[in-house]
This record gives sequence, C-alpha cells and structure tokens, in this order.
Amino acid sequence: MCGIVGAVAQRPVVEILLEGLRRLEYRGYDSAGVAVVRGQGDLVRSRALGKVAALMAQLGVEPIDGHLGIAHTRWATHGVPAERNAHPHFSGEWVGLVHNGIIENHADLRKRLQDTGFTFTSDTDTEVVAHLVEVFRRQGLSLLDCVLAARCELQGAYALAVISPNEPDTLIVARQGSPLVIGLGIGENFIGSDIQAMLPVTSRFIYLENGDVARITRHKVDIYDVTGAKVERPVKQSSACSFAADLGEYRHFMLKEIFEQPQSVAATLEGRLAADHVLPCLHGVSDALERLAQVDEVQIIACGTSYHAGLVGRYWIEANTDIPCQVEVASEYRYRRQPPRKNLLFVTISQSGETADTLAALEKIKENHGSLATLTICNVAESSLIRESDLALMTVAGPEIGVASTKAFTTQLVALQLLMVLLMQAKGADAGKIAKIVDDLRKLPALIEQALDLNATIEKLAEHFIEKHHALFLGRGELYPIAMEGALKLKEISYIHAEAYPAGELKHGPLALVDSEMPIVTVAPNTALLEKLKSNLEEVRSRGGVLYVFADREAHIQEADNLHVLEMPHVPELLAPIVYTLPLQLLSYHVAVQKGTDVDKPRNLAKSVTVE
Ligand code: G6P
Repeated sequence: MCGIVGAVAQRPVVEILLEGLRRLEYRGYDSAGVAVVRGQGDLVRSRALGKVAALMAQLGVEPIDGHLGIAHTRWATHGVPAERNAHPHFSGEWVGLVHNGIIENHADLRKRLQDTGFTFTSDTDTEVVAHLVEVFRRQGLSLLDCVLAARCELQGAYALAVISPNEPDTLIVARQGSPLVIGLGIGENFIGSDIQAMLPVTSRFIYLENGDVARITRHKVDIYDVTGAKVERPVKQSSACSFAADLGEYRHFMLKEIFEQPQSVAATLEGRLAADHVLPCLHGVSDALERLAQVDEVQIIACGTSYHAGLVGRYWIEANTDIPCQVEVASEYRYRRQPPRKNLLFVTISQSGETADTLAALEKIKENHGSLATLTICNVAESSLIRESDLALMTVAGPEIGVASTKAFTTQLVALQLLMVLLMQAKGADAGKIAKIVDDLRKLPALIEQALDLNATIEKLAEHFIEKHHALFLGRGELYPIAMEGALKLKEISYIHAEAYPAGELKHGPLALVDSEMPIVTVAPNTALLEKLKSNLEEVRSRGGVLYVFADREAHIQEADNLHVLEMPHVPELLAPIVYTLPLQLLSYHVAVQKGTDVDKPRNLAKSVTVE
C-alpha cells in the first residue's frame, strides 16, 4: 500500500515532499525515499530504512533538492524492507520512479529485461517498470509516450510517478487500481496517493480514473484515458482541512482517538436525528429512500475492523427488520461465485474508502449481478468507494492516524444504526420502536464518556497481561463481534496472540486451552443472553481460568477469586456493542504501552491497504 507524493514547482520541492510523506505514513512505514532532478540536470535520490523521520535525518546530513521530485513511503510486498528495495527506483541515470500496487507479471518482465542486459539492484516488482520505461526512452520516445507504451505491458495494480532529467519540468503519472490524485497549485502542481499529502499546498484536486496517464508540468495538466485519448477530468475543490498531526495532551494518537469518541460519535449523529425518526442522511442518487423501500436483502462487505462493524450490523438489521443480511470479508467475496440476489442492497464499510479488496468487491457486484443500490459507509469524502457507490453514509470520525482503528469503528457502528433505522422507516416499522431507538442514540456520547472513566482502572489491569502470550475474548450475540474486535486490537498493537469465541462455543474446543496462564476477557452487558453468559463464565472458572469481565453494573456479577469485574454503565441493549468497545480499546492500548511496542505504528501493518 505505500504512499506516493510528487511535485513540479518553481521552488525547491523536497520539504513539500517530506511533509507529504509524513502525512502518508499511515500507508506504510518500513522505508522511505525521495528523488529529484537537480538544477544541474542530474537525477539523485536519498533512501532510508525505517520511518520518514529516518529519511529526514539522513537528508539533514546530506541534503538534496530540486524543482521536480517524487517520494515514497513503503509497505513491503516484494522484497524485504531494506534500503536497496526502497523507492524511488532508477533505471540508470535517466529514469526515476515510485510505485504503489503490485505488478503481477514482474517475474516474466524481469527475465526479459535481464536477457536484454538490464541489471537489477532490488528484489522489488517495481524495478521492472523503471527499466521498461528506459527501454522506450532509448528508442527516443518522450517520457509520456514511454509510460503509455510501458503500461501496455503491465499486469496488476499500480499508481506510478515517473521523472527523468531528459525532461526536467515534467512529471508523468499513471493509475490502474491504486489511488492517485493530482493537486493543482498556482504555477506549481503536485500528485499524491491521497489529498492529505497535498492539503498544506493546495485544496484543488483532480481524481484520476483507472487507466489514466497524465503529463504534469508547472502550468499544465494533460490527461489521457485508457484508450490514449485526451480527456478532461473535473477539478474538485476540497473542504477537507489539513489536519494538525498534533498529539495535544496525549502520548499516542491511538489514545487521543479513543478519547475523541464522544465527539466523533456526536458528529456522526449531528443533523441526522429528528425528534422521533432518522432524517434522510444518504448522499447520492435522488431516489435513495424509494430504493431502500424495495430492499429484500443486504450484503455487507469490508475488511479488518470495518468487517467487525459489519458483523454487528447484521445482528442489528436482522433483529429489527425482516431483511436478511449477510456479511463477508472482501478478499473472500471477490473471488467466490454468488447466486444472483433479488433487490440487493450492497453495503461496503471502510474507514479509508481505498481498501483494494473492498473496491474490487464493489466492482464485481456492479459488473456481474448488479444490485438495487450500492451504499458505502465511509470516513473519507473524496475516496474511491464514495465515488464508485450509488449512495454514501458518511462517518464523521475526522482523520484517524493511529494504525489500529478506534473512533472510525465506533462511528461505523453509529452509521449502521442509522442505516438500520432508515430501513425500518422505509419498511414501515413501528413508529414507537423507532422513536425509542432515536432517543437512545442521543444518549450515546454521554455513555461513551462514562465508559472512558474506566481508563485508570484499565491501566492497572493491563499489568496482568504484559507477561502473557495468549488471551481469549468472549461475547455472545452482537457482543461476539465486539470480542473479535477486542482480540484484534490486542494482537495488532501488543503482539499478544488473542482469539475471540462466541461464549457458547467455548466448550467445543477452546476450553482445552484454559489454565491460569490464559486470561479470558468477557463483555457482559445486561442483555437477553446475560444468564447464559454467566454459565459460560462458571465453566471457565471451574477450570482455573482467570476472568476479566466488563459487566453492566446491574448484571450482578460478583468479584471472586480469578474473577475480576469491571463495572460498566447501564446501556440500552442496542447500544451495548458501541459502548463495550471502549474498554477493550483501552485495554489493548495500555498493554501495548506497558510492553513498549510502537502503539501508533505497529510492526508489519499499514492503515490503508491499497494492494490485494
Ligand atoms: C487495515 C487497517 C485496519 C482496517 C482495515 C480496513 O488492515 O490496519 O485498521 O480495519 O485495513 O480498512 P478500511 O479503510 O477499509 O476500513
């Protein structure tokens, strides 16, 4: 998934590129690099293993600069994280290039290029593209024509930015399957994987479409579509503000984002609740509500944390409407045959709106079976998912910087509640029931504040986990996906192996793992399944397991040997999954801090996964 940024300007561009990289670091951070065409007409680069800060330090000692440049922050796919594999990749002295995506036919191309005399200095799939461009440059083609010719030989996904000292004022970019945006300045232009990289320098953007290649100079942008025909793409003025990557009083972005949840949830509800119903808050096609009235089935598709939100959504939709709802991870769905469905509402959930598998699943439904409507629940207004879907229900979490998703998840759950009520309204559900849900939703920010009051207690509790190698998370009903999310958070940032089980399933296998070394975390709101859950807890205790139970203060679960109870506020049943997420986020955060891991940038992960 990697982040790309580039600039052509009258002023030196390295500082702009580095700030862009810092803003794209959520896309990958195992190595970074920058290349410029210098005033004296040569192509130079600086690359460093590790985060963008390491590259900045290196450039402090050995500076390079120029008016045309490209830069990259990497998340390794082909080739280990190492300086030799970091981008930009060069072909000799004449071609410099950065790439996001995967070139699937790289092995064949590498062999062919080696046979014609090219020497490879990296293990990446990307380097073949640099040499391929060089093949055409040697034939005397312009840089634009080189890239147009090279792309005909590439299979896979890519966003590419290419520079050459042959054309010291030209930046060539190409997009196929990976996001790429052009930022328009005054007498200077930019490119980036997303607009955040460019917000400090412009607010006017052109979103390239799949198959587009563009030639960008200081004063001009020419775009060619997949057929090679010159095309115009609309210029969009973005209202997004350049977020201050500012921790304020917090030690980590993850903690800051956990504590922002009362505000992000309130912002996601703002302007969407009338006194006793949900307002039509979908953007997109004008007949949205008519389409919702016709829905016979819902299919939710997502990845990672967003998938867990979808799983909760299924419980909610099926409990409150007569609409069957299925949920699947995008990477499975996209390669599986599904029978055609009738009047299907196809819902994607994504924080970034750029996740490659989720986008591919959406493309598949549009190409194959079709649907009544495609709807995305998404946090980034300018993202590919929003542009490709009929309808959008925005979460208003604000930028999330910590790689482990927190406030994006709870706002996705809020959006799913809104969608559920919109479906209920469209299907003529009981008005009293709807009014009660709306009333409860208003209480949500305050309930989240109360859950956050447990922070100090959970910080102490975290000490119990730092020497552990494994943990189990249990939940029942719609709290089972919350247990899954709790286990995922612990894995992601503390590297403790954690698994979630529906509590009723414990005795069918995992109970064999239970001993005093296996902490078992349970979420126990006062729902219809509470008594059944209590029996499951006894099964664990009688086998020496140590239980940590987040329980409703009215659940009457008493502290005892090997049974630690953490009292939660009393929450309406429908809101429990949202409120019970908070203590699990805090638990994983404090365990990770006490273990000394890199909380905001855990090893091997990236925030936005734009490769398959
Ligand atoms: C990555 C992130 C996860 C996220 C998932 C889906 O794996 O590390 O936090 O849940 O992608 O991302 P999306 O942007 O589609 O929600």
